[in-house]
Amino acid sequence: MSEAKTPWSGRFERTPGEFQQRFGASLGVDARLYAEDIAGSIAHARMLGARHILSAEDVESIETGLREILADIEAGRFALDLGDEDIHMAIEGELTRRIGDAGKRLHTARSRNDQVATDLRMYAKRKACEVLGAIDELRATLVRRAEENLEVVMPGYTHLQKAQPVVFAHHLLAYFWMLTRDVERVRHAYAAADALPLGSAALAGTTFDIDRRAVARELGFQSVVPNSLDAVSDRDFALDLAFACALGMVHLSRMAEEIVLWSSEEFGFVTLDDEWSTGSSIMPQKKNPDFAELVRGKTGRAVGDLVALLVMLKGLPLAYDKDMQEDKEPLFDGVDTYLDCLQAVDGMVATMRVNASRMRADAEGGFMAATDLADYLAAHGVAFREAHELVGALVLMCEREGRTLQDLSLDELRAVSPVFGDDVLRIREIESVVGRRSSEGGTAPGRVREQLELAAERLAEDERWRSKHVA
Ligand code: ARG
Repeated sequence: MSEAKTPWSGRFERTPGEFQQRFGASLGVDARLYAEDIAGSIAHARMLGARHILSAEDVESIETGLREILADIEAGRFALDLGDEDIHMAIEGELTRRIGDAGKRLHTARSRNDQVATDLRMYAKRKACEVLGAIDELRATLVRRAEENLEVVMPGYTHLQKAQPVVFAHHLLAYFWMLTRDVERVRHAYAAADALPLGSAALAGTTFDIDRRAVARELGFQSVVPNSLDAVSDRDFALDLAFACALGMVHLSRMAEEIVLWSSEEFGFVTLDDEWSTGSSIMPQKKNPDFAELVRGKTGRAVGDLVALLVMLKGLPLAYDKDMQEDKEPLFDGVDTYLDCLQAVDGMVATMRVNASRMRADAEGGFMAATDLADYLAAHGVAFREAHELVGALVLMCEREGRTLQDLSLDELRAVSPVFGDDVLRIREIESVVGRRSSEGGTAPGRVREQLELAAERLAEDERWRSKHVA
């Protein structure tokens, strides 16, 4: 039996055993909230001072003590005692060891329930900004690589079968917009976390005449949570962030999958930098896209983290329940995983060599001008369904004879439909197939250039948001 003294020892005749202590503790996980916990406590103490609930001397020594603890933790001079239940008890206990009775007064008008909710919201806001920064790094890389590859023609796919050619820039920018939606989701999570629970105490508010708005201002919260029960039992902000991470990871996983495909000998569209590849312990020739595969593989973790949070919260009665202590590990893991994977994908995309001639050569195959031949007939009065049939027959013929649509002579085309004129010979060329897809949002280089401008503007706008919100 451990003789650890608990904060509730007045009510208890015996203390929990070692197992119960370990089973109930969260310090190993929540220690990383130390900076938020200290900032929250300082703001709380100052408010108590301003409201004459604590004396100015007490507030002064609490603040000094907490700042010293922060500095000591950061310098590695203070190792948290794993005998403490959580980071809140650990810091408060250390403060009291250092400053005496004033430390025991810090918890006036506060509960760990509103304390932990506050710490976690601050953490979520800080990490949301960090994630946004990492997404922006990758988006900037995508824009840069798109600028470099504006004229590089590659096959576009549906069902992973060659469909119509696109420029590589267009393909890269598709990911830019996908990631832009991720930015919106992370910002939503930021906004969801941006209200202060502190001052709700255990669940019902407090008998002390506190000033929640002053604490909110000091800690950089937009508002205060209006209902004390909701304040201590809401973890939606954590779920929002975990969801943003999970879907962000799903997006990175799709990108990673393409990197794996593209870097295979079969595709050969890109060559990964040596720094972003690994070899084989047995096969000397191998160069493997391990990091892309890991991003794909780690997506399961982020999705699992989200599911763990959803299930943890399901069925919890108001207000705080100890189940909620299980919120931190998945949230931390989801965010950490996503941050690492953003960095990995950014590194791969930034440094991969684009094999433009291979992409261009591959765009010759797959009869990718077929839609254009059908469009040509349709534009000249043939009903599109009929045009589709006629060109389908041409494709079948080419396939049997091992030829391409570009190999067919004008006579052969005209034998299928007299509507074909000699201008079709230019129209079926791959550059023209790409260049004529100039509808808004299409792959024609002119349109992609327009898109690049939009992307750059959007990136600049989002960077401005970030510079105003960095927590
Ligand atoms: N370690 C706890 C958690 O993370 C802090 C809140 C504890 N509150 C309580 N009433 N036991 O949720």
